[in-house]
Amino acid sequence: MNQTLQITLLLNDELLTVDVPPGMVALDFLRKQRQLTGSKEGCKEGDCGACTVIVGELQNSQVRYRPMTSCLLPMGELHGKHLVSIEGLNMEQLSPVQSAMVECGGTQCGYCTPGFIVAMTAGLMDETIPLSEKGHDFATSGNLCRCTGYRSIKQAGQQAFRTLEPDLSGRKSRIKALCSAKALPKHFLDAAEKLCCIPQRKQILPPDSEYTGPIVAGGTDLFVQKGEEIPDTFPQLLNQKAISPALESDGVIRIDARSSFEAFARDPVIQEAIPNILKYNDLIASWPIRTRASLGGNICNASPIADMTCLLLALEAELVIFGDSGKRIVPLQNFYLGYKTLAKKGDELIAEIRFPKPKRNERINWSKVSKRKILDIASVNSAAKIEAEGETIKQAIISLGGVAATPLALNQTSRFLQGASLSSSTILEALSVAQNEISPISDVRGSAIYKRLLARQLIAQHFVNLFPDTISEEAVCEALR
Ligand SMILES: Cc1cc2nc3c(=O)[nH]c(=O)nc-3n(C[C@H](O)[C@H](O)[C@H](O)COP(=O)(O)OP(=O)(O)OC[C@H]3O[C@@H](n4cnc5c(N)ncnc54)[C@H](O)[C@@H]3O)c2cc1C
Ligand code: FES
Ligand code: FES
Repeated sequence: MNQTLQITLLLNDELLTVDVPPGMVALDFLRKQRQLTGSKEGCKEGDCGACTVIVGELQNSQVRYRPMTSCLLPMGELHGKHLVSIEGLNMEQLSPVQSAMVECGGTQCGYCTPGFIVAMTAGLMDETIPLSEKGHDFATSGNLCRCTGYRSIKQAGQQAFRTLEPDLSGRKSRIKALCSAKALPKHFLDAAEKLCCIPQRKQILPPDSEYTGPIVAGGTDLFVQKGEEIPDTFPQLLNQKAISPALESDGVIRIDARSSFEAFARDPVIQEAIPNILKYNDLIASWPIRTRASLGGNICNASPIADMTCLLLALEAELVIFGDSGKRIVPLQNFYLGYKTLAKKGDELIAEIRFPKPKRNERINWSKVSKRKILDIASVNSAAKIEAEGETIKQAIISLGGVAATPLALNQTSRFLQGASLSSSTILEALSVAQNEISPISDVRGSAIYKRLLARQLIAQHFVNLFPDTISEEAVCEALR
């Protein structure tokens, strides 16, 4: 029989204490144990959004709500939290989001509809999301529909955002206003009070103090790969303890490896260090995946096209690793020994990621090419940190993903660029050095030849984007001909 864990959570408007296998996903709990079947099982891989729920967590006596895909969300993490399914958004009358879906014909078979309504509502609840078309697209970036077509769904969402804009704009907290506007049920108003009554606890160990399952951070890779197995084990759930924001001291930025992509991108310390981080983040996965996907998980999953890993390589990140034999520090670029092979023992944890705070004249750029603009894995991605003084390159660190068995730091190219002139001819030579460092293979994301071309374009683009006054796109294109 599965080892279970006792957790207390607020499920919609009901405070519940339940015994659950910690690795059971919230979707199965909702549908199979609570008969709350509004959350749908579509892909069970985080791709379709039909299972989207909203999870609220206490932060400074306020509840902070974020959307998550319940098919990848382990129940063991939900102690002390507010789990809101589509049923928890229902009221006596339709909410403005639900009404707009009806009025605009935003639903046909209805399978994706609960997920869209939950995602749109989550977007309305988050004060950082603009009440505009852009905000609506951000909120629904993780939802797919296979029969209605997106035009009417988008019209519905935009209508709801427009209708509620006067009630919400300028509000520090939108929850109260949404309740007054009958866009959220009243049970949201005393959620903080109810969550405060649940005793917090330290990380939970299984009764025999031995985990029988994997280390799980956000679970966005693991539940896709081992979703059937994990509920039968007692996994080590890293997110049971609170995660602190990034810290900067003595020119070094330190960040908890469990930080989600969203937390990383919205952190003021990170935004100062990487000014375009929010723009980059929007091109990775979808909002409900980014609220879960962690930096440590991205690094340890060891995909050659891991997006954040590519960026961290160019930032010269180091990993602080803890295990039975103590603490050690490993440069990220030395962490990969081969395809999906890490310089790490099974029980070792990456606790922290740190990198030098970029100096004022170090410029950073990251980009990826994928078949779809959002919610797609890169064919090739690349990042660069380049420091120039006048027309001389002082230092350039360039990374590439999708062109070798592991995410790659282009050390030879970086050495070639150091001290070279900032010119189209240097870029041209650097591109041929880079071509000798990579070994792409043909796969579903593109042929080896195509990936070589993408690598060339992405590296050249770093220089054009970072030094527009010195390097023009036309001059680089001319040199590349
Ligand atoms: C729909 C979807 C879209 C996606 N899109 C993208 C994308 O655009 N770009 C991209 O790069 N990735 C994407 N991913 C992949 C995934 O979201 C990321 O790789 C994510 O960073 C994994 O982090 P996690 O916390 O969810 O890892 P988990 O699934 O929890 O763990 C992954 C691996 O890392 C290990 N691990 C996790 N944390 C630690 C730690 N601190 N110490 C030691 N080991 C650890 C786990 O044991 C496991 O082996 C996508 C995934 C999905 C489902
Ligand atoms: S079922 Fe598709 S994202 Fe969860
Ligand atoms: S209404 Fe059928 S999948 Fe969207």
